[in-house]
Amino acid sequence: MEAGPASNLRGGEVVVPCTDLDAALEALGSLGFRLESIFPADEPAVAVIAGHGVRLRLERDAAVPAPVVRLACREPAAVAGGARELTLPGGARIELVGEGAGFELPPLAPSYAVSRAAGDGGWRAGRAGMQYRDLIPDRQGGRFIASHIRVPAGGPVADYVHYHAIRFQLIYCHRGWVRVVYEDQGEPFLLEPGDCVLQPPQIRHRVLECSPGLEVIELGSPARHETRAEHELTLPTAASAPGCERVYGGQRFVRHRAAAARWEPAAHAGWLARDLGIAAATAGLVDARVLRPAGAGARLAGIAAGELCWGCVLRGAATLDGEHQLGEADSFTVPAGRAFELAGASAELEWLLVTVP
Ligand SMILES: [Fe+2]
Repeated sequence: MEAGPASNLRGGEVVVPCTDLDAALEALGSLGFRLESIFPADEPAVAVIAGHGVRLRLERDAAVPAPVVRLACREPAAVAGGARELTLPGGARIELVGEGAGFELPPLAPSYAVSRAAGDGGWRAGRAGMQYRDLIPDRQGGRFIASHIRVPAGGPVADYVHYHAIRFQLIYCHRGWVRVVYEDQGEPFLLEPGDCVLQPPQIRHRVLECSPGLEVIELGSPARHETRAEHELTLPTAASAPGCERVYGGQRFVRHRAAAARWEPAAHAGWLARDLGIAAATAGLVDARVLRPAGAGARLAGIAAGELCWGCVLRGAATLDGEHQLGEADSFTVPAGRAFELAGASAELEWLLVTVP
């Protein structure tokens, strides 16, 4: 297109035939549309109303077909009394549609993998001063991603309010601290070593600052997902309520505090477990716990099952399958149907076990 005509264009509108302007304006107003103009004053025949990136020109005498206008909503059931659809006088339809999960789940490609911390090799520079190391190098076909993330310098983090189109995502603080804030979850708070959050799908959040030497472990699905900026919302939200039971995409937000957590006998004899609360918050989609030996000679032998069986040593040492000596930040993935054994646990061993049944 030539520059001249294009630079002359000044926005667009959709012409909507409308037999009752008052009723249509009230209905659209309830959806957050705002009146821009109306005329003539003594007997209105045209009203322009705009909202959500759409401008509608309601015309009493327009001889045009009635359009369908689709509005994307986070939770369609919470809009217009759950009606999902609204018909304006004159036949135009307003459809309320969910913005959808927004991700594609690639086929699972299960494999046995051991990932080693191995000094400073394997780190790559990410955004905002963060360094990344893959803890599931082949990503099991793209179904999962686990990252060891560190921020050597610390300080304010150049983040903005955003959200992720994901199936699930959890963040475990390994060293240092990071200050974060989540939609409807109260004031900003610190994640400290041993603390964990479950970030449910699409929850708005922002990372504010961190200590030098911050290290977190992040695990999510799928490996490739969209991060979307949120321009409409500032955090913390006014209606903040810590511990809020709000459900996001079928999951509740979890803030697990290590300092307040209890170690209890694990399902595996000889081990103690600190349940991170993820299974309860995801209706069993993901289970995550930290394990430590209850005494000398702790050994965990089992057969992996389900989509994911992933472990990561947090401190101490152990031996996987009699041949892999694992230390801090070493991790492993075992495909379903394969037997595995973790033995040779040092007294101070703690390891994170995440399973997706
Ligand atoms: Fe995020």
